[in-house]
Amino acid sequence: MSTSNSVVKARKALEASIIYYRGRPVGTVAALDPEVESLNYDQCFVRDFVPSAIAFLMEGNAEIVRNFLVETLALQSRERQMNCFKPGQGLMPASFKVVLQNDQEHLIADFGEQAIGGVTPVDSCLWWLILLRAYVKATGDIELAHRDQFQRGICLILDLCLIARFDMYPTLLVPDGTFMIDRRMGVYGYPLEIQVLFYAALRAARQLLVPAETRDSYIQVVDNRLGHLLYHVRQYYWLNLKRLNEIYRYKGEEFGEGAMNKFNIYPDSIPDWLTEWLPETGGYLAGNLGPGRMDFRFFALGNMMAIISSLVSEQQSQAIMDLIEQRWHDLVGYTPMKICFPALEGRDWQAITGSDPKNIPWSYHNGGNWPVLVWMLVAAAVKTGRPELGHRILELVDICLYRDQWPEYYDGKHGRLIGKEARKYQTWTIAAFLVAKELIANPDHLALVSFTEDPAMIACTI
Ligand code: GLC
Repeated sequence: MSTSNSVVKARKALEASIIYYRGRPVGTVAALDPEVESLNYDQCFVRDFVPSAIAFLMEGNAEIVRNFLVETLALQSRERQMNCFKPGQGLMPASFKVVLQNDQEHLIADFGEQAIGGVTPVDSCLWWLILLRAYVKATGDIELAHRDQFQRGICLILDLCLIARFDMYPTLLVPDGTFMIDRRMGVYGYPLEIQVLFYAALRAARQLLVPAETRDSYIQVVDNRLGHLLYHVRQYYWLNLKRLNEIYRYKGEEFGEGAMNKFNIYPDSIPDWLTEWLPETGGYLAGNLGPGRMDFRFFALGNMMAIISSLVSEQQSQAIMDLIEQRWHDLVGYTPMKICFPALEGRDWQAITGSDPKNIPWSYHNGGNWPVLVWMLVAAAVKTGRPELGHRILELVDICLYRDQWPEYYDGKHGRLIGKEARKYQTWTIAAFLVAKELIANPDHLALVSFTEDPAMIACTI
């Protein structure tokens, strides 16, 4: 890794965020802001640990990642209950922390029951699989993933995701707020972020599962689902000017197999901002798709991870990066990158967020700018052969993140203000900066998190 002043400070801050359990490093806290009450930011969130883990793997410190994987796996199969209801066994916690009981350290986990709004952390088990594969890639320690407990843990996750239910699509049906956006934001149903993580997680599981009589049926189902999911997202979530023209001229109420307008999207649901905003070249994946519903907002994590995981084609990947370049001010702004664009305002904000004061327009999840997304943006830039974009992004964050004490998010249309309620010393801001720096310096590290387009890869081993 390079050693500029901000990198040295970031490494120190990341080091300070490490959580120890019975003397061993097992994770990183969400934030270490000395000026505000920690609430649950003193816990290790599974999703927040991902950039920390990648940073550690890149610098050859795999022990903490291994410990994290082992401990969270143990939490997965722990008895738990929400009121009188028992959630599915494969669920991974949103977060965990170390507590002292009778002079002994214990880990306690939050599966969403403590979280504001009682949101289900669907993304945790998906990130866990992606991280397990990254760990194996970095260390060659396939033995860990092949252990019985790990194989069982993978199957429990697959049980939760692949079980047959009341559904006509290959995508995963989830409640609101099941991922990084963990509040009510109209991201229920088939949000892009979950579909993309689902795809990457299935590909990881495919590489990690050891064939055996009890597991062969899983492998078959995963292979089958991967193909359908890929087709569905590439085909139906895709938006560019050509697609928009088609939707604009859609007829509603089409019945039967030959329907062009498969989801019965009414042209009147196309938002005004979109027709002017969408450039001639460029495109992106829509935020959500269900019966009579297309969410036209741009969601960064879903689009970036779709590139990194090759859920989108090479051509679509290039088009997404074209869009970002042409709408740089809106999507990247002063501090990359906008979590979603545009913000919900007025009646939409009231109806969709339930008048959430933390998610006012252009703040927090509702169009705020989140530096954690920098690692994905840079990874996508590297994957699409546009390192110059990566450099441009790093220039934007090199001084400001350190100067502003690593804020959780920024506010405003172009991300100029430190977020109204943003934590300082937010660990995934720090880690994402380190990962982005390292990806530019050493693009080979991209392989830890990326998947190739080649369909044969779906079935191949690591
Ligand atoms: C907020 C974010 C969530 C994150 C958590 C800890 O709740 O919305 O994505 O995991 O903070 O940083």
